[in-house]
Amino acid sequence: VIGYYNGRFVDPAEGVVPIEERGHEFGDGVYEVIRVYAGRPFLLEWHIERLLNSLSAVRIASPHDALGYKELIQTAIAKSGEREASVYLQVTRGAALRNHLFPEGEIAPAVSLVVRPVTTHPSACVGTLLAQADERWANVYIKTINLLPNILAKQTAHDAGADEALLVRDGYMLEAASSNLWFVRDGALITAPTDRYILPGITRRFVLDLAADLQIPVYEQKLPYTQLARVEGMFLTGTTTEIFPIGEVITHPHCPIEATLPSVAPHPLAVEPEG
Ligand code: PDD
Repeated sequence: VIGYYNGRFVDPAEGVVPIEERGHEFGDGVYEVIRVYAGRPFLLEWHIERLLNSLSAVRIASPHDALGYKELIQTAIAKSGEREASVYLQVTRGAALRNHLFPEGEIAPAVSLVVRPVTTHPSACVGTLLAQADERWANVYIKTINLLPNILAKQTAHDAGADEALLVRDGYMLEAASSNLWFVRDGALITAPTDRYILPGITRRFVLDLAADLQIPVYEQKLPYTQLARVEGMFLTGTTTEIFPIGEVITHPHCPIEATLPSVAPHPLAVEPEG
């Protein structure tokens, strides 16, 4: 395990973040999680590309260019000595007297990082989702460190005996709390499109490439919750989730899906079985 804060490698348990760091006080920052396999960061370029997009979406001037992040991450992995690991990388607007407005003048964004070992998933696992209303904001395509709705959704799922949340917004099944959501039907894959209501997952992007290689049709479309009974399979994708098959979706009286169903009927699903 190794930590890093603003130019210095540290013990992650060491107190290095100033109290008035905006990440700490406001959640004013963005992050990435990158998987390391056999000592090498997986899909690193795509993660850095998304980080730069997130930074520009929240108007933080990036303290590094793509090459700078790449070197920092590779140095940290090498220093950690870890082989099977995750890299948590966070960039915040920096430290300044607490004020909602952006600090005046130049302040240096704060970069922090933790490399820690991960255990690989047993491949025989099949998971359960708890369906619930997606209570996140309307810009979840930005990978911000503001994860309270995600945390509450995942904890609620866990408390109900499920592995993850199935988040439903306006009647559509969009995403899980920390993974993207996929459906299998009639030999095709269905996953929500990358608009502002899902995170454009790096693993999702990789699976899209795999599907193209394998000539598996993919429909990037929103699937109404009412179509759940018609799917033949489901799985999640994510950097640490990898590809995780789902066997069951449960509901709970405290998590009414009806609350998220649109008052008008959803569009009929455009993906209809062929032939
Ligand atoms: N979570 N959707 C959400 C809301 C996520 O937080 C994540 C990743 C994903 C999957 O994206 P990717 O394939 O790029 O990891 C989808 C990270 C791993 C986390 O918060 O720990």
